[in-house]
Amino acid sequence: MELASLRFIFFFTIAAFIPSLSVNIFYSDEVWRRRAEEAMNATIEAYDPNPEDAAHQFNMHVQNFLEGNSTRRSLLRRAKYKGECRATNPIDRCWRCRENWADNRRKLADCVLGFGHKTTGGKKGNIYVVTDNSDRDVLNPKPGTLRHAVIQKEPLWIIFAHSMCIKLSQELIITSDKTIDARGADVHIAYGAGIMIQYVKNVIIHGLHIHHIVPASGGLIRDSVDHYGLRTASDGDGISIFGSSNVWLDHLSMSQCHDGLIDAVQGSTAITISNSHFTKHSDVILLGASDSYTPDKMMQVTIAFNHFGQGLIQRMPRCRFGFFHVVNNDYTHWKMYAIGGSKDPTIISQGNRFIAPDNQAAKEVTNRNYAKYDEWKHWIWRSEGDLFMNGAFFNQSGDPKGNNIPFRKREMIKARPGTFVTRLTRFAGALYCTAGKKC
Ligand SMILES: *[C@@H]1O[C@H](CO)[C@@H](O)[C@H](O)[C@H]1NC(C)=O
Ligand SMILES: *[C@@H]1O[C@H](CO)[C@@H](O)[C@H](O)[C@H]1NC(C)=O
Ligand SMILES: *[C@@H]1O[C@H](CO)[C@@H](O)[C@H](O)[C@H]1NC(C)=O
Repeated sequence: MELASLRFIFFFTIAAFIPSLSVNIFYSDEVWRRRAEEAMNATIEAYDPNPEDAAHQFNMHVQNFLEGNSTRRSLLRRAKYKGECRATNPIDRCWRCRENWADNRRKLADCVLGFGHKTTGGKKGNIYVVTDNSDRDVLNPKPGTLRHAVIQKEPLWIIFAHSMCIKLSQELIITSDKTIDARGADVHIAYGAGIMIQYVKNVIIHGLHIHHIVPASGGLIRDSVDHYGLRTASDGDGISIFGSSNVWLDHLSMSQCHDGLIDAVQGSTAITISNSHFTKHSDVILLGASDSYTPDKMMQVTIAFNHFGQGLIQRMPRCRFGFFHVVNNDYTHWKMYAIGGSKDPTIISQGNRFIAPDNQAAKEVTNRNYAKYDEWKHWIWRSEGDLFMNGAFFNQSGDPKGNNIPFRKREMIKARPGTFVTRLTRFAGALYCTAGKKC
């Protein structure tokens, strides 16, 4: 989409959409109104007018990684693998398997690929060490708690003094320029409310276990050191990205939340979801929640190197409007379908492995239940180099000879055997790292 038309949408949206989109907050609150407007400007700025090029860039990184010496070595080593550290994809190779990782944590911020590639999180900030797993006072969070860390105004690189389980009593409202880096500890966000990334930019979340998230009542919650507000009940999503840009979620282990595991909605863009392991859940990832919210045309998301594992049912992801690059993921389980969508999303599926369930009625990877064929036959949904097993099939759409087909004249990731994606996603999920040892 051209910038001019984006601006047009933008002027429309400020007037027409902000009141209706302000779920969870009372939009009469001036602070949130200003945040919403700044966030929409940030979304326009983060939007990439050439998403095909960005997807191509990603593929080049994978290609270079696979053709470099490191992979050949690890291919040879695979048979003898005895638990030594191995980085099996280009994101991980950028930082993993160095003994001094804990002295150089911010290196991680250089490693993101895909649409979220400009995300630096708290790279420029100090380290904040979370020492206390409690969450008793959401209005005046206690220093040393995760909630106290995420409401600070300056950039912060947030780490954990030791392993802990944090039961959030209300949603955790994160401010801009933060990294939550759980490496070196076994940190679970569980049995309470989830994480909310609302009208902010530049957030990295790495290495958390997030599970059994439940709805919370809402109420007065501090969302910044100098502001608090009244919030409605939260839905029980694991991570909710709401009107935010430049977000990177990496090496998460997520399961069994009340609503979605990850939602990205309301003009969120420049997002990469990578190296994560998803299990035991129905509605896994929702990208765009409303058929009428057209600014979601700016939504651009990379889903890469993830393992969609046991006990999953649908929405891996379910997309609306935007551009979605779903690349080199391992889909080993689904009950209904893997990738779905409505409202003309562009979905480029490349180099994934899809293993269908035994149920004859659920062999199709794709799902467009909410539209008639006459409508969806024009949507660009491409499958290139995907590996299909146990009868899985992807129903493509969009005119393959049309001018709007991405990658038409480009070099592409070639089809890889299933073992290849197994390797790229081998260490999906939260890693177990110890300071002073290779991670
Ligand atoms: C958003 O962008 C518009 C147009 O460039 C500008 O007039 C407005 O002041 C910006 N708003 C904020 C809150 O930065
Ligand atoms: C691969 O290894 C060879 C021989 O060890 C070396 O000459 C070459 O520069 C290496 N290439 C890359 C891309 O690292
Ligand atoms: C895709 O779906 C359309 C409409 O249901 C159907 O006619 C077509 O045969 C399907 N193609 C494949 C490859 O399954």
